Amino acid sequence: MKIVTSRMDLASLMSDNKKMGKSIGFVPTMGYLHEGHLTLAKAAREQNDLVVMSIFVNPLQFGPGEDFETYPRDPERDTALAESAGVDYLFIPAVEEMYPNPLSLDIKVTDRIDVLCGKKRQGHFDGVAAVLIKLFNLVSPDRAYFGLKDAQQVAVIHGIIADLFFPIEIVEIPTVREEDGLAKSSRNVRLSEKERQEAPELYQALLKARKAVLDGEKSTAKIEGIVKKHINESTSGKIDYVEIYAYPSLKAIESFDVKGKAIIAIAVQFDKARLIDNIILNMDF
Ligand code: PAF
Repeated sequence: MKIVTSRMDLASLMSDNKKMGKSIGFVPTMGYLHEGHLTLAKAAREQNDLVVMSIFVNPLQFGPGEDFETYPRDPERDTALAESAGVDYLFIPAVEEMYPNPLSLDIKVTDRIDVLCGKKRQGHFDGVAAVLIKLFNLVSPDRAYFGLKDAQQVAVIHGIIADLFFPIEIVEIPTVREEDGLAKSSRNVRLSEKERQEAPELYQALLKARKAVLDGEKSTAKIEGIVKKHINESTSGKIDYVEIYAYPSLKAIESFDVKGKAIIAIAVQFDKARLIDNIILNMDF
């Protein structure tokens, strides 16, 4: 595995590989790698000649009061993990390398952001868009890999790809879960012992909702009710939202009588950890 820190080096390495006809799979991350990231890298390994991973804690996607300074970083451990997952090129740029000048464009995501977590994180997806546009231009991947745990991010990225005509296939990787169903997240360690026991009920609530839809329930309001009741009855967490949309447009739907996909997404606040999870239903059954 080769570590690259200069954007020019990365761009020229990628162009050399493209000339040789190699396909490139790209896994953008902010580091502090966990099994979720490694699953993305392994999928990229299977589907491409070359795997590129970036590790960059992107200041532009952190709002005031968010944890940019204290965001966990462990480049040595990450390097070993990336290598073990089959990464060929690990791009670890400094902030000045990615943002040598203040942006002369106002990159503002206008669609798919007024719902779910985007409502509260003003400007967050603008920062995600800015860094991904830069990274996509440097790497020119054939495929880019994202986890569906962050389904809103994936939805926003589909919008960027469509708007800017990036010839990149977005590969969506299902959420990696603990054995009891809890979605893997670095935040899970902030749960108390009791909360950790309750937390798998979030996924159980989503499964219950899926079963109800498969059994014929069409009303999104009723499904939201089922999810809320289950979470309220089986956890001490406070529901932040339970929302249902068409996916990836994130447009409101009142009934599951739709074609395409629908997402049921939840966020629940525990004492020191806010957990998110979702399930995407293919309605073409
Ligand atoms: O999901 C993340 O880790 C980040 O939002 C991403 C996509 C790497 C952009 O900084």
